[in-house]
Amino acid sequence: MSSAASINTPSFDIEAIRKDFPILAETMPGGKKLTFLDSAASAQKPQAVIDAMANVYGHEYANIHRGVYYLSQIATDHFEAARRKVQGFLGAAHDREIIFTRNATEAINLVAASWGRANLKEGDQVILSEMEHHANIVPWQLLREQTGIELVVAPIDDDGALIWEEFENCFTDRTKLVAMTHVSNALGTVTPIADIIRTAHDHGTLVLVDGSQAVPHIDVDVVALDADFYVFTGHKLYGPSGIGVLYGKEALLEAMPPYQGGGEMIATVTFEKTTYAELPHKFEAGTPNIVGAIGLGAAIDYLATIDRAAADAHEQALLAYTNEQLAGLNSVRIYGTAPQKVGLVSFAIDGAHPHDVGTILDHEGIAVRAGHHCAQPVMDRFGVPATTRASFGLHSDYDDVDTLVSGIKLVQEIFG
Ligand code: ALA
Repeated sequence: MSSAASINTPSFDIEAIRKDFPILAETMPGGKKLTFLDSAASAQKPQAVIDAMANVYGHEYANIHRGVYYLSQIATDHFEAARRKVQGFLGAAHDREIIFTRNATEAINLVAASWGRANLKEGDQVILSEMEHHANIVPWQLLREQTGIELVVAPIDDDGALIWEEFENCFTDRTKLVAMTHVSNALGTVTPIADIIRTAHDHGTLVLVDGSQAVPHIDVDVVALDADFYVFTGHKLYGPSGIGVLYGKEALLEAMPPYQGGGEMIATVTFEKTTYAELPHKFEAGTPNIVGAIGLGAAIDYLATIDRAAADAHEQALLAYTNEQLAGLNSVRIYGTAPQKVGLVSFAIDGAHPHDVGTILDHEGIAVRAGHHCAQPVMDRFGVPATTRASFGLHSDYDDVDTLVSGIKLVQEIFG
C-alpha cells in the first residue's frame, strides 16, 4: 500500500525506471532489442519529459514575458518556474544567477565573449586541462585570437586523471581563469573539482566548470563548491536538446556586458542608446527555447523521484562489472582508468577500427559512440585516433552490459 510519504520518497527500481523510457521498448532493424549505451552523447527522455513538452504545445503555449493574456502569462510562469527548478538543482542562491542558453557550448562561449573580452588582456592566462571537450577549448582559442591571452594546459596521467602537482604548477601571477571539466566525456574521469576551485581561489583566479557530463551522475551544489561559473546542457540530463544553463555568481554576471543583442535583453531602446534588462534577461536575447526550458524543469522533477545515492551505487556496480567483463577479453584496451569515474567505458579492440566496432555493435542493436568524442587532445594523449565509448544512463542494467560483451566477442571473431 502506498502512502503520501512513500509516493514522495525518491526510490530506485531499475525495472520501473526502464519503463519510464518509452524508447527502450523500440525494436531496432533486424528485430534486435535496443541496448542503449550512448547516454553521454545524449540521454533518452522519460515519458514525464515528453508529456510535459507535449502538454505545453497542446494546451499552454504562447510567447513569454510579452503578452498580458492568459496563455502568455501561464507560459511565462512555467518558464520561470523551470529556472527556479534549475536554481534548486544546482543549489544556487538566486534564480537571476541562472541563464538559459542553447547548450553548454553556448554558455562557455558567452563567458569567453562577455567576461573574457571585458576582463582579459594580452598575456593573461587561462588554465585548461588536457581532457577538455572541444567546447571548453575552442571558445578560449577564439578569445586568444582576439585578445592575445595564453592557454596553459594541465596534463593528465596514463589513467586519465589530472596530475595534481602539474596543475598547481600551471599558476602564475598572470593566471586569470581555470576552465575545467567536472567529468571527462571521453574518459569518464571525475576531476577533484572542489580542490581545483579552492586552489584557484587561493591564487585569486576564477573558475568555470563544464558540468555537462557531471550533472546526470553527481549532485552539485555551486554555493558549497564556490564555483564562479558552472555550465551544463539539458539533453544529457534527460531533458530536451537546445537548452543549456549558465550559472554565474550574481556580482560577476552583473558586471559583464551583454553577449548578444536583441529583444528580451533590453530595458529601453532608442537609436542613440539602449539600456539593458536586469539579470537574468540581460543574457537571454530573443525568444528563448520556452518549451525546452520547461522540459528541462520536468527532467529535474523526474530526477527528484529517483534515489540518487542508490542510482550511483547501481552505476558504480555496473561499471565495476563492465571492467571485469572486458578485462576477461583479450585485445580489449580501456582508456580512462582513474579511481573516480562515472559509468562510462572508452575502449579499443586490437585490429578493429572503432567505427567498424560501432557498426558491428549497431547490427546487434547496441548504440555506442565511436570517434574522438569531441576531445581530440585526449585521443592524442593516448595515441589513438578514436575509441568506442559505452556510457550508462539511469536505465542501464546488467543485460545491457552482457549484450555489449557478446557484441565485442563478435567483433573479435570477425577481426580475429
Ligand atoms: N559531447 C557529446 C559526447 O560526449 C556529444 O558524445
